[in-house]
Amino acid sequence: AQKPIIIEGPMPIEAEKFAKRLENVTEEKSGSFVFYKGTVDNYPVIVAKTGKGMENTAAATALAIEKYNPIAIVNQGTSGGHDPNLNVFDIVLGQRTTNIGSFKAADKGANQGIDPTLWKPMDLMASEGSAGEDPNAEKPRFYEGDKNLLAAANAVKDKYTKGKVVEGTIGSGDFWNNEVDRIKWLHDKFGTSVEEMEGASAAQIANSYSVPFLGIRVLSNNKTNGGKYDPSTAEGCQEYVYEVVKKYISTL
Ligand code: 5AD
Repeated sequence: AQKPIIIEGPMPIEAEKFAKRLENVTEEKSGSFVFYKGTVDNYPVIVAKTGKGMENTAAATALAIEKYNPIAIVNQGTSGGHDPNLNVFDIVLGQRTTNIGSFKAADKGANQGIDPTLWKPMDLMASEGSAGEDPNAEKPRFYEGDKNLLAAANAVKDKYTKGKVVEGTIGSGDFWNNEVDRIKWLHDKFGTSVEEMEGASAAQIANSYSVPFLGIRVLSNNKTNGGKYDPSTAEGCQEYVYEVVKKYISTL
């Protein structure tokens, strides 16, 4: 049998539009996760409504891999801009995806205060030893977007007319950053184009099973340039990802 492509979306507005485009759909539930199994151009495609955040996404991704043995996974949805050159409705292809919620704090005693600007990115996958003691763990880990998925995404860029499509770095963590100075600090430390709450978690699990992965994120807001939140961006993203999937299928 053909191995399915899995398209993940966290919120109903980020998954259901794509699910409606599937043909021959059946629905499967596991825990709080909903899998819409169907086809696109007669090729198996499964939309996973994962719920928000790193934990839901990791669990849904591992389940999807164990249950369906996918050929590739795309994690897509909305995001907040870290780059003032990107506007609401622009789309970032995750050339790299990284966890921006994993840190080691500076060494401070009682009454020495709290200083997040001294925090160092912490890589929990650096070794099997204690990340708190291992100097090699004091760095971000970047997951590379799959070359073939990226090529398919770049090939259909022009079909997306609501904004531009660029390659960049997607940062993830269970955190909504609203302090422009902190966003700038994250942008400098990790090179992030956008932030969201899922991509790096899916990338990490996909990587642990060697499944090709790509994050695709539309900006629904950008605090760095005054871009106001627009939930309708989620639908635009799914329309574009649908074109990416059709293109990718045509290469299989
Ligand atoms: N910061 C964090 N998450 C965001 N999301 C959209 N914009 C942002 C932002 N600025 C996405 C997350 C999560 C939900 C809150 O929306 O991925 O699923």
